[in-house]
Amino acid sequence: QPVVAVLVAAGSGSRLGAAVPKALVELAGVPLVRLSAEALVAGGVQQVVVTIPGGMDAPFEQALAGLRAPLRIVAGGSTRQESVRLGLKALNASDDAVVLVHDAARALVPPALVASVVEAIADGAAAAVPVLPVTDSIRQLTASGSVVVDRSALRAVQTPQAARLGALRDAHEHARVRGLEVTDDAAVCELVGLDVTLVPGHSDAMKVTTPADLVVATAILEERRR
Ligand code: C5P
Repeated sequence: QPVVAVLVAAGSGSRLGAAVPKALVELAGVPLVRLSAEALVAGGVQQVVVTIPGGMDAPFEQALAGLRAPLRIVAGGSTRQESVRLGLKALNASDDAVVLVHDAARALVPPALVASVVEAIADGAAAAVPVLPVTDSIRQLTASGSVVVDRSALRAVQTPQAARLGALRDAHEHARVRGLEVTDDAAVCELVGLDVTLVPGHSDAMKVTTPADLVVATAILEERRR
């Protein structure tokens, strides 16, 4: 069973305040995009397409040199969804290949979590996403103020998200033609009626977004290396 992946790394990372694209920011000397790509390969991915900001080929090629799986680097789009669509187009695999879409910013995703979304598709799921319970209390804004939301019924969604390659390409094409923008690939799958299966996520698959996240992620990585 072929397992392939789109690693989206075309974001600017302005919230991180770094001088380079976020995916090139380093944790203990290793760029986020490299850590992400290695985690995918360790979890069973056999081919990776990385979407990057335009004109940044050289530093990304350097960051990803010697990865132990075939790799292609392509320019991303102006939104995450468009970057995923361009990445899916650049993959060279059959329609029934399992495809993962992963945020480069989730650099410390455990390989076991990568393997678990692949397994969910192999077991028959149309789409699979890792989720975690939310730990904050949540309020929803309304016209007149806000109301409390029962957080026990909520889940935060992580990546990698998985589907079959043909089905995910079709779903993204459907979204593009209709001009529908959603924030993740599970939502794209739902636009065409695919059922989304939830698998347990992992705190290490946190998205590195702010400078404080960088401190936490560095600590996790250094703990692993001890
Ligand atoms: O901005 P956000 O953190 O939601 O981005 C999630 C992931 O999508 C990041 O890894 C980022 O590099 C990627 N992205 C992309 N193309 C864009 C915007 C974001 O590949 N146009």
